[in-house]
Amino acid sequence: MHIFEQIGPLEEYLNSCREDALSIALVPTMGGLHEGHLKLIDKANECSDMVVVSVFVNPTQFAENEDFESYPKTLSEDKKLLEAIKVDAMFVPLDNEIYPDGSSQDYDVGEMGNILCGISRPIHFNGVAQVVARLFDIVKPDYSVFGEKDYQQLLMINSLVERLGIKTTIVSVPTVRESDGLAMSTRNNYLSPEDRTNAPLFYHQLVATKEAIQSGTDISSATEQAVDALSTVFDVEYVKVLNANNLTQITTSSREIIIISAVRLSEIRLIDNIVFRRSNV
Ligand code: PAF
Repeated sequence: MHIFEQIGPLEEYLNSCREDALSIALVPTMGGLHEGHLKLIDKANECSDMVVVSVFVNPTQFAENEDFESYPKTLSEDKKLLEAIKVDAMFVPLDNEIYPDGSSQDYDVGEMGNILCGISRPIHFNGVAQVVARLFDIVKPDYSVFGEKDYQQLLMINSLVERLGIKTTIVSVPTVRESDGLAMSTRNNYLSPEDRTNAPLFYHQLVATKEAIQSGTDISSATEQAVDALSTVFDVEYVKVLNANNLTQITTSSREIIIISAVRLSEIRLIDNIVFRRSNV
């Protein structure tokens, strides 16, 4: 595996791959790699000849009161993990490669940036848009792979790519879960043993809400029940049942439904979602 910290040598390497007609897939990450990331890399390998994994803890997507400083930085473990599988290049840029002279550009992330997670994290999606657009510009990937756990991020990136005419195909990968149902996340490492025991109740409640809707409970009662049940363990930021295609309100013709939620457990923020198809529509 080649490791690059600077854009110039990475671009040179990728240009020579393109001259050999090899296709390139990018998996952007913030490191702290786990099984969920490995599934993204598997998908990237399925899609294309070459896989580039970027590891960059992006400061612009964290607000001042958030966990940028304490975000797990596990570069040597990440390298070992990636060396053991098929990854052609790891890109570990320094801040000034991504944001030369401290520059950063504002992106209009539209309505998608102002709802759900965008309410409690108002600068977050703009920061994600900045780093992802920059990585697309550097790597020029044929495919870019993202996880469905960050569903709102996925839709925001899809619309960014469409709006800016970026030539990459966005590929998504279903959420990878621990054996007890908890969605894998680098931030799970912050949970105390007691909170880690309680955390799977989050996903179990989303499953229960899905089952309630499928057996005829109306959306607003199912949502209310979910908030009540989750509140016994978590501080609930939001639970919404929406159209999975665009995170808007469900209409009678919406077929793909998402139950999407953010909660906190002792200040650790967890997000999760379930997408399903309404059978009676
Ligand atoms: O999902 C993430 O890990 C990050 O938001 C991403 C896409 C790597 C951008 O920093």
